[in-house]
Amino acid sequence: MHVGAIEGGREWQDAEHARGYREAAGAGAFPRWAESEDVVRELIPPRVGRVLDLGTGDGRLLALVRAVRPGTPAVGLDFSEPMLEAARERLAGEDGVELRVHDLADPLPDLGTFDLIVSGFAIHHLEDERKRAVYAEILALLEPGGRFLNLEHVASATPALHAEFMAAIAHLEDEEDPSNRLSPVEDQLDWLREAGFEDVDCHWRWRELALLRGDRPGA
Ligand SMILES: C[S@@+](CC[C@H](N)C(=O)[O-])C[C@H]1O[C@@H](n2cnc3c(N)ncnc32)[C@H](O)[C@@H]1O
Repeated sequence: MHVGAIEGGREWQDAEHARGYREAAGAGAFPRWAESEDVVRELIPPRVGRVLDLGTGDGRLLALVRAVRPGTPAVGLDFSEPMLEAARERLAGEDGVELRVHDLADPLPDLGTFDLIVSGFAIHHLEDERKRAVYAEILALLEPGGRFLNLEHVASATPALHAEFMAAIAHLEDEEDPSNRLSPVEDQLDWLREAGFEDVDCHWRWRELALLRGDRPGA
């Protein structure tokens, strides 16, 4: 997903690009946006001791989790300084939030463990091999019984369906994002199972937007 791409996938370092995305997101960004957030809320476990958000952007999902489970200690990672600045603004004055610069192309840092790891529209920027590796790293950072929720931009089943999706969001994007590496839901569910997650499923989908879930065994 993008709003005015710069070649090479580094558009998120650009303050203008980050501002454009945040404006679109503030307006709800995509059809069914609110619906997807409702399902995320529903899937937040009853007890969350600590939450991690990968590609946190302006901290949207961290804020959503903390609205449902107030005061949950939270860590957000992103490689975009302008987006992290927006997250600092959104979460200003809140205790227990740590925002760190990290490129998800690199192995996840040692951050301790989490009961919930979320990601919103970020992992689709990674190559498939790295997606598979990051899923295994996420599992390792989860407490037994912990949950991973990935609200993601996924591949359409056919080029015609991709064209339909692009037409449906034409008011937001008029060109392909060169940094997208879209993968089918089915492949990603397989990768989550291969990594060792259980209760893997796609709980919500509208065209190229999907919510994938996997739990770490051993609650
Ligand atoms: C479409 S925005 C989504 C922001 C937020 N998660 C949300 O759901 O609103 C994608 C975010 O992923 C971040 N991102 C993309 N590739 C990344 C990478 N390789 N490492 C870290 N962050 C990345 C971008 O900087 C941006 O903040």
